[in-house]
Amino acid sequence: MTTYTNSSSPRKPLIAGNWKMNMDHVQGADLLQSLAEGLSEANHDPQRVEVAVFPPLTTLSTVQALIQDDGLDLVCGGQDLSPYDSGAYTGDTSAQFLAKLGCRYVLVGHSERRTIHNETDDVLNAKVRAAYRHSIVPVLCVGEGLEIRQAGTHVEHTLTQLRAGVEGLTEEQAPRLVVAYEPVWAIGTGEVAGPQDAQEMCAAIRADLTELFDADVAARARLLYGGSVKANNAAAILNEPDVDGVLVGGASLDSAEFARIACAEKPQTAAPAL
Ligand code: 13P
Repeated sequence: MTTYTNSSSPRKPLIAGNWKMNMDHVQGADLLQSLAEGLSEANHDPQRVEVAVFPPLTTLSTVQALIQDDGLDLVCGGQDLSPYDSGAYTGDTSAQFLAKLGCRYVLVGHSERRTIHNETDDVLNAKVRAAYRHSIVPVLCVGEGLEIRQAGTHVEHTLTQLRAGVEGLTEEQAPRLVVAYEPVWAIGTGEVAGPQDAQEMCAAIRADLTELFDADVAARARLLYGGSVKANNAAAILNEPDVDGVLVGGASLDSAEFARIACAEKPQTAAPAL
């Protein structure tokens, strides 16, 4: 199994905050401003660590305008997108609209979308492709539920989701991919997978990307862990060689806590894989 040490990694760590269905546009503006202050007080270096926020759709344009107007060292992304570019799809959001808003990323296949909205692997693959059509980097979320973890088939289950999600991607597209391993049993529960669990799965994902594409793709794609990440456990998780960042839910709604997570990054520098 291939692993990459911190010092030789070509990957820029990504600390991502998924606000889920929290923060209207007024609250979101406040949160973003206090996060920017927190990052600056903690001497966050955007050349070394990228920090992204994923606000709800109605908050996104306010957040993006603040980032742009105030020259903040943050990027934003959408929480979901349509597999289609335009048309009669009431309630859906096109990747081209997200791109126009300045989104760099979009979450695809968060477990809450897979379970609550019954999103299938086929739909999620179409969403991944839609993101690439408009130069948005998909953050493909994968991960097993508790029963699968207890049955010991979590790696197989997660790799099946990965393969379905990335099907048809070209070797030009694939290196930009971000995959977030989020074990469902650790989301919002306070149960955090151990750093070794995060490493086991991220190493398996990276090895699979080598098989699906090639070693260069595997070395450049960024792999995140998500599930009850807090300031007091982030450093240990980020210290694992195949973990390139974290996707944070609840703790991203507290600007001081999230700034501490962003500054708990692993020691390395690199250009973003964009
Ligand atoms: P929590 O950090 O609240 O467990 O949420 C994780 C998550 O779902 C991020 O997408």
